Amino acid sequence: MKLKNVGIIGLGTYVPEKVMTNFDFEKIIDTSDEWIRTRTGIEERRFASEDQATSDLAAEAAKKALKNAGVSVEEIDMIIVATATPDYNLQNTACIVQELIGAVNAGAVDVSAACSGFVYALTMAKGLVASGINKKILVIGAEVLSRCVDMQDRNTCVLFGDGAAAAIVTEVEEGYGMVSQFLGAEADLKGSLRTPAGGTRKPLSQEVLDERSNFIQMKGQDVFKFAVKALPKATLEALEQGGFKAEDIDMVFPHQANSRIIESASKRLNIPMEKFYLNLNKYGNTSSASIGLALGEALEKGLVKKGDLIALTGFGAGLTYASMIIRWSY
Ligand code: ACO
Repeated sequence: MKLKNVGIIGLGTYVPEKVMTNFDFEKIIDTSDEWIRTRTGIEERRFASEDQATSDLAAEAAKKALKNAGVSVEEIDMIIVATATPDYNLQNTACIVQELIGAVNAGAVDVSAACSGFVYALTMAKGLVASGINKKILVIGAEVLSRCVDMQDRNTCVLFGDGAAAAIVTEVEEGYGMVSQFLGAEADLKGSLRTPAGGTRKPLSQEVLDERSNFIQMKGQDVFKFAVKALPKATLEALEQGGFKAEDIDMVFPHQANSRIIESASKRLNIPMEKFYLNLNKYGNTSSASIGLALGEALEKGLVKKGDLIALTGFGAGLTYASMIIRWSY
């Protein structure tokens, strides 16, 4: 069986209107704009309104992606939502998106790989389209992290933001599209980055609420050490699988967690910082949405052209890490 050649034919992004600046955080916790900016590169982030859940952000991004791709919603035969912050513990977010956008002919599934989720989901979509199982897949990375962080914990609450990015994945012409990828994982049983309670290991209880363990907890330095190795490793593995070298890359879209992590990866990969697209100053860490939010913005600015070789690389809770090399097709 000849596998089909697969790529992205349209992208859409959405961020909520509410801007939460570092100065806003100064008013509620013991922190400073200076600390956040210099330690992370983040200046502000977006927070969902009270009536918005992850599926609402996802649906807005999806509608834009469909429009940009010139694809009708009825043509979508699968929806894959990458998220670490689903609307509900039971009932996938993809099904809710299906209803919100009217994708009546689509299957629907969620992928849980935290900040690597978008790349994991794109890779799965590639496999489904390449093998002929599906024809047009809507891949979404969407998060409402503002509701999952402890607003009393300065180690985490200043880092995250809300947003969504969606891509239409289908067959593209030979020589373009998703060339190679790498999916990796390293089980983090110590819990460097997890929400300790609210799942089956430690169900919600009054004790959980009192100790606030239903919110994300992170040992920042442990994750930092993992991230500075994972970002270059995943990118190099994906490049190697495609028969490329670091100098072949036109642009890298890394997961946007901390500008210091990206500067370190730039040195290790010997790819200049100018080739890394960053917008975490405006959105913070939006987990599975971040790579798509960066790529969408770069496309809008005309910074990615047909024929460019780009790398999408993520790393996050799990721990997971993943990279995809794409020869851009439009
Ligand atoms: N404001 C002021 N001070 C703070 C803040 C804050 N918001 N947060 C922490 N501090 C303090 C700490 O309490 C500590 O004080 P102490 O020395 O008196 O104990 C001091 O700053 C240094 O803390 P560190 O944790 O050592 O700071 P570090 O330089 O490591 O930066 C950070 C922390 C930004 C979290 C960094 O470790 C990091 O970016 N880690 C990686 C995060 C990441 O990549 N996540 C990706 C995955 S996300 C996902 O999968 C959902």
